[in-house]
Amino acid sequence: MRVLHVAAEVFPLVKTGGLADVVGALPQALARQGADVRLVLPGYPAIADAVLHQKTIVELGPLFGAGRIALRLGTMPHSQVPAYVVDAPWLYRRGGGPYQAADGSEWPDNLQRFALLGWMAAHLAGGELDASWQPELLHAHDWHAAMACAYLAAHPANAVRSVFTVHNLAYQGLFPSHEFARLGLPHSFMQSHGVEYHGQLSFMKAGLKYASHITTVSPTYAREIATHEFGCGLDGVIRSRGGEVSGILNGVDGTVWDPAGDSGLAARYSAADLAGKLRNKAALRQEMGLDEAKPSAPLFGVVSRLTAQKGLDLVLAALPALLRQGAQLVVQGSGDPVLEAAFSAAAHANPGQVALRAAYDEALAHRVIAGSDVILVPSRFEPCGLTQLYGLRYGTLPLVRRVGGLADTVVDADEAALREGRATGFAFDAATPAALEAAIERAVRAHAQPESWRRLMRTAMAQDFSWNGSAAGYVALYRRLLGRRE
Ligand code: ADP
Ligand code: GLC
Repeated sequence: MRVLHVAAEVFPLVKTGGLADVVGALPQALARQGADVRLVLPGYPAIADAVLHQKTIVELGPLFGAGRIALRLGTMPHSQVPAYVVDAPWLYRRGGGPYQAADGSEWPDNLQRFALLGWMAAHLAGGELDASWQPELLHAHDWHAAMACAYLAAHPANAVRSVFTVHNLAYQGLFPSHEFARLGLPHSFMQSHGVEYHGQLSFMKAGLKYASHITTVSPTYAREIATHEFGCGLDGVIRSRGGEVSGILNGVDGTVWDPAGDSGLAARYSAADLAGKLRNKAALRQEMGLDEAKPSAPLFGVVSRLTAQKGLDLVLAALPALLRQGAQLVVQGSGDPVLEAAFSAAAHANPGQVALRAAYDEALAHRVIAGSDVILVPSRFEPCGLTQLYGLRYGTLPLVRRVGGLADTVVDADEAALREGRATGFAFDAATPAALEAAIERAVRAHAQPESWRRLMRTAMAQDFSWNGSAAGYVALYRRLLGRRE
C-alpha cells in the first residue's frame, strides 16, 4: 500500500506543536505495518539542510512566484522514512517560523507557499513528477496541506484517493478571495460548495470538501466539530460529509517519550521502580528555583503553547486556590504575550512557589513532564492533545478538561473508577475557575495519600497509547478507501 503524507512540519526538524510529533511518528508506525509511506515537505532550511541523501527528481518553475523549484527525494534523519523536499528557495528559504516571521506576523505569501506544497503533492500523486513511485493514496494534514485534495480533485482522470486529517479546526488558512486567481484552479472551485468561505478563500475547506475521507485526531473531537460550539463556522460542512468523518486517536512515540530510556532526565524510572520520579521532581524544583522545604508538596506542571485554546486563563484564576493548598506550579510555554506577562507576574508575586520558563525547549519539556506530579491541560477545546499522553507515560497524572481527546484518554478518579482500578487522572467539565479549583482540590487530596497515588501512577503508566494501535486504524481506513479486504 503506497501512501504519500503531506504536511508543513515534522519532528524533530520543524515543530510548532503536536502536528509535528504526529507527522514524525505516524509514517514510521505505518511502515512497521507494511505500508510503503513517503512524506512531502516544504524545503525550509531546517528540512532542506537535514534530509539525508537527497537526489533531484525533477526541476520546475516558475510556479506560485518561485522562479526555480527542485523536487528532491531523500530520507528523514533518524527514521529512514523517504521524504520529498520541495526546494523552492524563494518561498521557503528564510529565517523565522514555518508560518510566521520572527515578529509573529503571518508570512504574506503563505497562500503561495502552501498552494505549492499541495500542488506538488497532488502532481506526485498523479504520477507526473516521479516516474519511479506513485502513491495509491494521499494523506494531507491540516490546512497547510489541504490544497492537495483540491488539486487532486481538479484532475478528472485521477483515481488516487485522499484522506484529510484535521489536527485543529481553529487554524483555517483564510485568504482574500481575489487571491484565488493565483491557484490555477477552475472557477467552479471558488463557490460555496468549494473553497469559498463567507467571501474568503479557505484552504481548510478544500480539505473538508475534496478529500475522499476526513479524519480527526480523536473520536470525541470528530463528534464535536459537527456542532456549532466546536465547528469554528465549518460544522455545516462537516455535517454534510456524514459518515465520511471519523476520529483516530494519536499515539505516543515511545522512542522519544519513555521515562525508562530518557537520557535527558535526572534519573530514569519505570512503573516497577518509581524512586527516580522523585529525583526528577527535586531536580526540577532546583532548576526552576522552587522552594524545596516541603518535598512532598504537590507540583503541578504546564507544557503548552500559550493560546486561548489551552484554557490557561483558568489556571491563572485558580492559582490562589492552588497555592492555598500548599501546591506549586511550573509553567513552560510561549506564545500570547498577555498570557506570558500574566504568568511572569504570578511567578514574581509568588517566588519559590510559581515558576515560568517562556521558552520553546524540547529537552526542558521532558524534564517538566517527568518532574511534575500533575500535568495540567484545562483546554477549552483539544483535538487530541499529546502532553496528557506523555504525562500518563511518565506517571504524571493529567488533570484535564473533559473535551476532545482529553475526554478520550484520561479516566477521572471518581469513586467507581478508583474502586475498579481504572482511574488515571482528574477531569472536570465547566470551563470555569471554580470547576478547575475543585479538580485541583481533588488532586491535592489524592496526592496526600502516597499509597493510592502510586497506584494511580502505575495505572496511568500501564495505558497503551502507542502508535501501533492508531496506525492500525489508519491502515484499516486506507484499505476500505482502496476497496481492499481487511
Ligand atoms: P498542540 O499541538 O495544540 O500545541 P499537543 O498537546 O498536541 O498540543 O502538542 C504539543 C506539543 O508541543 C507537545 O509535544 C509538547 O511537549 C510540545 N510543546 C508545547 N509547548 C512547548 C514548549 N514551550 N517547549 C517545548 N515543547 C513544547
Ligand atoms: C493540534 C491540536 C492537538 C493535537 C495535535 C496533533 O495541534 O491542537 O490537540 O494533539 O494537533 O494532532
